[in-house]
Amino acid sequence: MEEVRGKHVLLRFDGQRCIHARHCVLSRPDVFVPNVEGEWIHPDRATPEELAELAHACPSGAITYERLDGGPGERAPVVNLVRVREHGPLAVHGELTIAGQPARRATLCRCGQSANKPYCDGSHTAAGFTATGEPATRPSAPLARRDGPVTITPIQNGPLRCTGALEVVSGTGRTVERGDKLFFCRCGQSANKPFCDGTHKRTGFTADGEPPASRSKP
Ligand code: SF4
Ligand code: FES
Repeated sequence: MEEVRGKHVLLRFDGQRCIHARHCVLSRPDVFVPNVEGEWIHPDRATPEELAELAHACPSGAITYERLDGGPGERAPVVNLVRVREHGPLAVHGELTIAGQPARRATLCRCGQSANKPYCDGSHTAAGFTATGEPATRPSAPLARRDGPVTITPIQNGPLRCTGALEVVSGTGRTVERGDKLFFCRCGQSANKPFCDGTHKRTGFTADGEPPASRSKP
C-alpha cells in the first residue's frame, strides 16, 4: 500500500487491488503519472474534490483517500450495486464488508484464477476467461431498501455469499437481479454466471474462505 500525504488529502494506492482499468492515469495523468520511476502520485496537483472524484471512479477500490482539510470522506452510495464486467470481475459498490474488511468499492474475482482472492488481480486476461457482461434479466421485485450494509463472505472452495440489499446490473446498466441474499460464482465454471449453480463442487475448485460447515446453502 502506497500512501502520499498532500496538503489537503492523503491518497492511498493499493497496487494489489488495481485492475488496471486506467481511469486514474487517463483522467489525471498529472496526479497519477504513468510510466515514471519513483514518485508518481501528486495529490497537490488537484483540488480535494477532484481527488475524491478520481478515487470514486476507481472501480477496484485501489485508490482511497482521507481528507485532511475537514472535508467529507467517501459516502456510501444510495444504491448498492454489483456491476458484471464482460470477461472480467464483479465490480461492487456499497457500504461493504468483504471478508471482514470495510470497503466502498471492490472488484471481485469471478474467473477463479486470481492469486489475490477474493479480489481480482487481472488474471482473467491471461486465463482467457470469457463470461458475458450482459447476463439475462431474472424476475425480481424492487427492494424495500436499496442501501445499507452489505456483507460479502467468500465461502471456502465455493461462491461469494452477499447479504444486504444489492442490485446486480449488466455492463450497460440493465437490472439483472435484486436481492438481499445472493451467491455469486467465483470458480469461473457456473453455467448460470454471474450466479453460483453448484458446479464448483464437481470441478474441485479450491479457495480460502468461511468453512462450508458454517455456511447457508447456496
Ligand atoms: S483500478 Fe483504480 S488505481 Fe487501478 S488503474 Fe483503475 S482507476 Fe487506477
Ligand atoms: S462458485 Fe462457481 S459454480 Fe459455485
